[in-house]
Amino acid sequence: MPAADTMTSLQPQATGQGAPAFGVYVHWPFCLSKCPYCDFNSHVRHAAIDEARFVRAFAAEIAATAGRAPGRTVSTIFFGGGTPSLMAPSTVEAILAAIARHWTIAADVEVTLEANPTSVEATRFRGYRAAGVNRVSLGVQALDDSALAALGRLHSVRESLDAVAIARGIFPRYSFDLIYARPGQTLRAWRAELERAIAEAAEHLSLYQLTIEPDTPFARLHAAGKLGIPDGDSARALYDATQEVCSGRGVPAYEVSNHARPGAECRHNLVYWRSHEYAGIGPGAHGRLDIAGERHATATEKRPEFWLMRVERHGHGLIVDDVLTLGERADELLLMGLRLTEGIDAGRYQALAGRPLDPTRIATLRRHGLIDTDVAGRLRVTPAGFPVLDAVVADLAA
Ligand SMILES: C[S@@+](CC[C@H](N)C(=O)[O-])C[C@H]1O[C@@H](n2cnc3c(N)ncnc32)[C@H](O)[C@@H]1O
Ligand code: SF4
Repeated sequence: MPAADTMTSLQPQATGQGAPAFGVYVHWPFCLSKCPYCDFNSHVRHAAIDEARFVRAFAAEIAATAGRAPGRTVSTIFFGGGTPSLMAPSTVEAILAAIARHWTIAADVEVTLEANPTSVEATRFRGYRAAGVNRVSLGVQALDDSALAALGRLHSVRESLDAVAIARGIFPRYSFDLIYARPGQTLRAWRAELERAIAEAAEHLSLYQLTIEPDTPFARLHAAGKLGIPDGDSARALYDATQEVCSGRGVPAYEVSNHARPGAECRHNLVYWRSHEYAGIGPGAHGRLDIAGERHATATEKRPEFWLMRVERHGHGLIVDDVLTLGERADELLLMGLRLTEGIDAGRYQALAGRPLDPTRIATLRRHGLIDTDVAGRLRVTPAGFPVLDAVVADLAA
């Protein structure tokens, strides 16, 4: 049992990281079609989805989770997918009502919904706003019609920008996602695309480098030599241009792939990266809950219909509920926290790990210009360190 003062320091620190937050993630696992690069837990169903049945199951799982983690004040809610913008607004409203029945909702709660930017989905935006959604994250992916077709997307640039304009008029906050380092993408074209995106995005952009995920159609094409993606040096040049253009235009990175004007960061994702607490609701959702002084890592059944049946039988879809050791928590703090430009509190790491970070390794990484530390005890990855973040984290965690 840790001493009382250590217990205090195990809690998320307010300094530089905001007050401890509690997030709720809700997963909607369906899409109209499967994009060939995507390995998210998303499924295509040709029969209509019984949303009322899902609402009952979401409400049951919310009740069960609140039973294990009662008394929280919810500061962020995130509907992710899959394609949550395929849900009826009344479904979103019912899920939000279930959350509010079991937990207190902060007055300034952030409620984000991921939306695909097709015209069909944009027609529902007003309904989501009325239900309580105050931020949308649109999967624009590219501002180039041939690139959208190559990514297997169902929308055009025109349709995406129309959806962005509709979102701008309805929601107080919005963001959109782009994928770069796409097949055949040139530095010049990406710079121009990015400039246009920043002009449209206003306050927040998620910019993901294309990853070839195992067992996807893109992985098979790549293995067969039929999908040429930028090599290491070209991808690095695209990454560097991304940082330069975004910083110059007032939307610097606050996380490896996320850019915002100061104060416009996605508060929900900050919950993950700052190792705060969150409930995972719905098929394949992950959570981190503090129960009786221990941190639980949870995950639910991934397959939507099996998740439904489990919830209907047991009241929840949990299939993983592991208590993390302090060492695992310390590793997670490094892995997640160093993704943020604000870095981590080295004292919080020490309280969890029971030892400080290795001073020799820190000195070496500092000498190479990959990390820096400040007098307040924060450890940050430098702009030169971010492109090799995985190696930096592996070195520090070893
Ligand atoms: C849950 S997904 C998609 C949300 C929404 N269904 C959509 O497609 O717009 C969130 C984001 O991850 C990104 N993403 C998914 N697969 C990726 C991959 N293989 N490489 C890079 N980014 C990826 C996309 O930008 C996507 O918008
Ligand atoms: S990228 Fe989005 S729309 Fe495409 S399959 Fe993945 S979750 Fe569905």
